[in-house]
Amino acid sequence: MEDNRVLEMRGIVKTFPGVKALQNVDFSLNKGEIHALMGENGAGKSTLIKVLTGVYSKDAGTITLEGKGEVAIHSPQDAQKNGISTVYQEITLCPNLTVAENMFIGRGEGKITNWKKMNEEADKLLQSLEIPAKAKQQLSNCSIAVQQMVAIARAVDMDCKVLILDEPTSSLDEQEVEKLFGLMRDLKARGVGIIFVTHFLDQVYEVCDKITVLRDGQLVGEYEIKDLPRVQLVAKMLGKEMDDLSDIKGEGGSYEGADADERVFEASELQSNAGIKPFDFYIKKGEVNGFTGLLGSGRSECVRAIFGADRVLNGTVKMHGKEVKIGKPLDAMKHGIAYLPEDRKGDGIIGDLSVKENIILALQVLTGFFKPFSKAQVNAFAEEYIKKLNIKTASVDTPIKSLSGGNQQKVILARWLLMHPEYLILDEPTRGIDVGTKVDIQKLVLELAKEGMSVTFISSETDEMLRTCSRLVVMRDRKVVGELSGGDLTQNKIMSTIAGDK
Ligand SMILES: Nc1ncnc2c1ncn2[C@@H]1O[C@H](COP(=O)(O)OP(=O)(O)OP(=O)(O)O)[C@@H](O)[C@H]1O
Ligand SMILES: [Mg+2]
Repeated sequence: MEDNRVLEMRGIVKTFPGVKALQNVDFSLNKGEIHALMGENGAGKSTLIKVLTGVYSKDAGTITLEGKGEVAIHSPQDAQKNGISTVYQEITLCPNLTVAENMFIGRGEGKITNWKKMNEEADKLLQSLEIPAKAKQQLSNCSIAVQQMVAIARAVDMDCKVLILDEPTSSLDEQEVEKLFGLMRDLKARGVGIIFVTHFLDQVYEVCDKITVLRDGQLVGEYEIKDLPRVQLVAKMLGKEMDDLSDIKGEGGSYEGADADERVFEASELQSNAGIKPFDFYIKKGEVNGFTGLLGSGRSECVRAIFGADRVLNGTVKMHGKEVKIGKPLDAMKHGIAYLPEDRKGDGIIGDLSVKENIILALQVLTGFFKPFSKAQVNAFAEEYIKKLNIKTASVDTPIKSLSGGNQQKVILARWLLMHPEYLILDEPTRGIDVGTKVDIQKLVLELAKEGMSVTFISSETDEMLRTCSRLVVMRDRKVVGELSGGDLTQNKIMSTIAGDK
């Protein structure tokens, strides 16, 4: 084994019923290295990590750790004991405890004998890692980014040699990502080996030293970052060259009906109980527009108010020029509005139901459960969207919880597309979705608009907004501060409007 090696996985095999999730995969990690694990949705990234952390048992292969030789890891506790720590995307801390309690709780090493000492130790560690939090602060008062860093601090203090971050950045804004990267670099300098899973290519090139690419459960290769330009990385992930991404807008034309100027939805002085300033908003037939602004600027709150997902306090809403009342999501759905929420875990996925049941759900709610669709219809709907969105699933009857993270998201997106709503609202529809499918989804949105659907789009990635939207509403501090269209639709213009530059 190379001197510098901290982890070596060889010939890892893992099979689920009907799925070869990992076929003879090798992976190795050096001390003080940040190593990206990349691949399309369902490629096997999370499975490899779960084998390493003892969540899944492997069918074959070996795991060797620096100084310890081959190790048997049968549970997350075994992994911990061997210095392997994981921070999952969903934060698994306790929000109603303090920062220090979260860092030390459940460690059972008898290390902490009293509260005072615990708080002191916590503050020391927070300081040394430059994490902007105090030991005695309640965790729920910290931003998501800081909460994530606390999770990392917890992991680090456990004598960690290998730190695994599975899509840690998908709910962070740019500044928060920078802070997280600072922390990662710091740990790297201390010799920790870091495995980083993400779908953001920019981030990979900013912070990583090496890349391992998986495709369909197989190892494609391991590369030094400097030897693998972006286009080649994408080609390796997809197994083919990707079409030019630059211009998908305008390619297929836009909606040309006689009613193209009609305002399908219009709100004035709309205000909800979620703390946003009253705002005006409209969308025309066949238009794609969007809300942009930093995370927490109120983008999501605006669309939640439109859909009746938060309680509306004030304002009027019109559809096709006629005043309507939208007090709750079902009212909105009855008026032909559909909404893909940002928080899919809380609002969307029903884990024990099958893929097809999850897809049909919203349409069934709308038509009423007493008028069920036939089995053949449901299967046909499900199969249509599995194909359209390239959903990787063993069958339509597979429980959604056994799909990879990105594929679960696609199922929820299918649920709303299937409704063929007149007005579709998508909040971060491509988060956690791989580059190839991202483009497919953007194209699908533009196609639907061309057929006359109106779509409001929210994404943290401004290039994605620029590629799909013809008009952007800009938000800052929970207030609408501008609107951009035509020649003003540029990255710079968005940034300066968000910043409030004149
Ligand atoms: N518990 C499970 N039961 C059955 N199949 C599973 C289970 N976990 C994963 N799979 C399957 O194994 C394959 C690899 O999934 P995995 O979660 O490792 O993908 P991933 O690379 O992490 O994708 P994503 O980017 O979407 O998170 C997928 O086809 C998935 O459906
Ligand atoms: Mg995954």
